[in-house]
Amino acid sequence: MILETCLTRDVHEAAGFIRAGELVAFPTETVYGLGADATDAAAVHKIFKAKGRPEGNPLIVHLGSSEDVEKVAINLSPSAKLLLKSFFPGPLTIILEKHPSIPSVVTAGLSTVGVRMPDNGAALELINLSRRLIAAPSANISGSPSPTTWQAVAEDLDGRIACILQGAMASLGLESTVVDCTGSTPQILRPGFISLAELQRVVPGSVLSPTLTQIQTVRHHESGRKPSGPKSPGTAFRHYTPRAAVFVVDNPLSIQPEMNIAYIGLEKPEDDLTLKLTHVAPDKEDYARMLFDFFRSCDSEGVRSIYCQSVSEQGVGLAIMDRIRRASSR
Ligand code: TXA
Ligand code: MG
Repeated sequence: MILETCLTRDVHEAAGFIRAGELVAFPTETVYGLGADATDAAAVHKIFKAKGRPEGNPLIVHLGSSEDVEKVAINLSPSAKLLLKSFFPGPLTIILEKHPSIPSVVTAGLSTVGVRMPDNGAALELINLSRRLIAAPSANISGSPSPTTWQAVAEDLDGRIACILQGAMASLGLESTVVDCTGSTPQILRPGFISLAELQRVVPGSVLSPTLTQIQTVRHHESGRKPSGPKSPGTAFRHYTPRAAVFVVDNPLSIQPEMNIAYIGLEKPEDDLTLKLTHVAPDKEDYARMLFDFFRSCDSEGVRSIYCQSVSEQGVGLAIMDRIRRASSR
């Protein structure tokens, strides 16, 4: 079924669609989300359909105020409470024990639920004006790079959803850090802007999931050992992949001349290398913010191969490396 997608900057109008059980794409500080009333199972089903998302991949519930966590989750551990107090609103998703009122379609049948309070005025206004909790994944067709602009959302979902709330480009550009707080110590399942070191400043025992640690180990020792299955269901699915082939390079000077290639990284490539698109980022934060937008521009320019420079895995570097590694493995 083809829908007429309403493009609007009016948050009241967008909130009306959420209350009517329809889908609204909306800006957040990380990437654009595709939202529905989290307590309306039929509305949440539409998210999976519109994105072509595998049903086994759970959604994050977005809050308009941190007190609302009580409506979504139960039995919060002291460390979960500390993380929530320090990082909400912000680019952190906390996995908690699910409240019975959250329908199982939201959590893909799991007994746990991801909770986040976005640090974005339009997102908070949408949640608060609709007077709903909003379940939302990133607003892209499943598998493609997450959208950081409303235009990127329209590229993927025009005609498939009721409304796009038009806002600014996402200020961070990579999805939130996902941290499992259901065990004895917080464990990062998906790296993002909030780093392990930042979590450890609040809860010293916080760790990376064994899967992420193993990926780092494999890289450092160049061993062929494959990491074991991830605990965050979403990390098992194909992700962030542009149509162009993605290659990770340590040094842009090693790129061989070819037709229709593009480069993104921190260091400048050779002047005589002909590139269809280039982005030399002044720092890792800019690299993170521009990465998915760059992937999409490459696809619309018909680029065949994208070379991404590797960065050190400190701070947001781990999230950048996670996304470019996933994009490069197919
Ligand atoms: O920044 C973000 O997190 C964006 C914005 C829109 O908030 N959302 C986002 O959602 O990236 P999505 O669905 O694309 O990614 C959510 C990730 C997936 O890897 C999913 O498997 C994981 O969070 N997740 C959600 N609920 C979970 C749960 N109960 N247990 C483990 N992982 C969960
Ligand atoms: Mg996503």
